[in-house]
Amino acid sequence: MNQLGSTILRFDTVTSTNDIARQMAQRGAEEGLAIIARAQTAGRGSKGRRWASHEGEGIYLSVLLRPPITPSEASLLPLAAAVGVAETLRDFHITADIKWPNDILAGGRKICGILVETAIEGNELQYAILGVGINVRQREFREELRDSATSMLIESNEERSPDEVMPSLLARLDLWYRESLVRPDVILARWEELSSYARNREVTVISVEGQVEGTTRGLTGRGSLMVEVDGETREFFSGEVTLRNRQSVKARS
Ligand code: BTN
Repeated sequence: MNQLGSTILRFDTVTSTNDIARQMAQRGAEEGLAIIARAQTAGRGSKGRRWASHEGEGIYLSVLLRPPITPSEASLLPLAAAVGVAETLRDFHITADIKWPNDILAGGRKICGILVETAIEGNELQYAILGVGINVRQREFREELRDSATSMLIESNEERSPDEVMPSLLARLDLWYRESLVRPDVILARWEELSSYARNREVTVISVEGQVEGTTRGLTGRGSLMVEVDGETREFFSGEVTLRNRQSVKARS
């Protein structure tokens, strides 16, 4: 198994680093290939959203994974990546918090997004593209993002370039990716340590089944979120979670 980032292809501008990684995967590229761009013209977020990707302001990274797991086991990949990113940010003196399943927040605002896209044939996972976008050097955000987004510069007041953060990021992603393949329980425990959302938080969950209010009760073995709703524990596989009484919560270290 190659180290993640054992081969790195750097670009000035691409549509989306996930697109390039997918093209390379289809041509047979090996696991660990990393695509890094200085800017993206069509950066993708989750749920069909855009990911603002101005030149030199952030990390725009995609890594090709070829894990020997089933498609259903792939649900742990974004959680493993979230742990790797949260630890990287802590290396740079930022107290990162993980919002289920894989948003990384600092000071209650989003500092990083993770988008894992998979290619499945039959019941086989052909490959997965792990896309990571980290806000690094933005001093401010446009009006509609101002209350919800932040950057490494804003949070730490330290000037860093995406290239400075990249080695630590790739090393941590590699570490937790490998761990997720052999000891998923360790990933889940670390995820819970790094997330103020994991347990005993009063939340609203919006999922395909509608909107409910309840209290978080940790993760299941496959990384779904357990929420107690009217005395009954329900399992959520996807959805948008928000804290109900908008108190700011300090993540544990
Ligand atoms: C989210 O909405 O939270 C996920 C954002 C993921 C953004 C990254 S930037 C690198 C990679 N390329 C993309 O087009 N998206 C991901």
